[in-house]
Amino acid sequence: MRIYRAKDYLDLSRKTARIIAAQIIMKPDCVLGLATGSSPVGAYEMLVNWYEEGDLDFSKVTTVNLDEYRGLSRENEQSYDYFMQKHLFGKVNIDRSRTFLPDGTAADGEQECRRYDGIIQSVGGVDLQLLGMGHNGHIGFNEPGGFFEKGTHCVDLAESTIRANRRFFESEEEVPRQAYTMGIGTIMAARRILLIVSGKEKAEVLSRALSGPVTPEVPASILQFHRDVTVVADEEALSCCTL
Ligand code: GLP
Repeated sequence: MRIYRAKDYLDLSRKTARIIAAQIIMKPDCVLGLATGSSPVGAYEMLVNWYEEGDLDFSKVTTVNLDEYRGLSRENEQSYDYFMQKHLFGKVNIDRSRTFLPDGTAADGEQECRRYDGIIQSVGGVDLQLLGMGHNGHIGFNEPGGFFEKGTHCVDLAESTIRANRRFFESEEEVPRQAYTMGIGTIMAARRILLIVSGKEKAEVLSRALSGPVTPEVPASILQFHRDVTVVADEEALSCCTL
């Protein structure tokens, strides 16, 4: 595991964007696993800038996103599909038919999970998986629990996650209670993983994830078992780490 210490959020975003850009340059037809949330917004902004300056070409890139709220359509401003369109897809020359997210409106949840796993398989798996981390150590929407889930599945969101994501919605009632997420097995199958963490409120859980026991109670701790993980975290997020 490589750990890069960033000065602050801007530095974290720059380092993250550089790693993603390097992946695209080294393999223009790569498959990127992408994440939403506040953590990657700065990095996406930099990738857009570099695209606009002519330094990056997304035309052959395929993307699969980690997760999507169940019940939200892609037109819903809180959906992750909308988020990706707003922060990245709508601003670069990516072929929208090669950007994939679970369909929050699918009638049959089980079937949707299998369909999404089929897509990830059919594109040949993920070259670089970008991950944020929730305040409770979740990755994607794999919440703390008794075991690690393998494939895409539908989850009941933890109360703490609903509260944390409340800021994006008008009221807490509007925050969806369920979501589709790639499983831990799918995330671990990515050839490379890039975990980005910012802020002191995640410092303690980050230290448990990086150096505590590997346990489904801290889903991100499973990354200790992956052979190619890069962590980019700012000083605040690393403030409890002794590594
Ligand atoms: C959300 C997403 C995760 C994300 C995490 C952290 O619930 N499902 O994929 O990594 O929370 O979000 P943020 O970066 O806003 O703290």
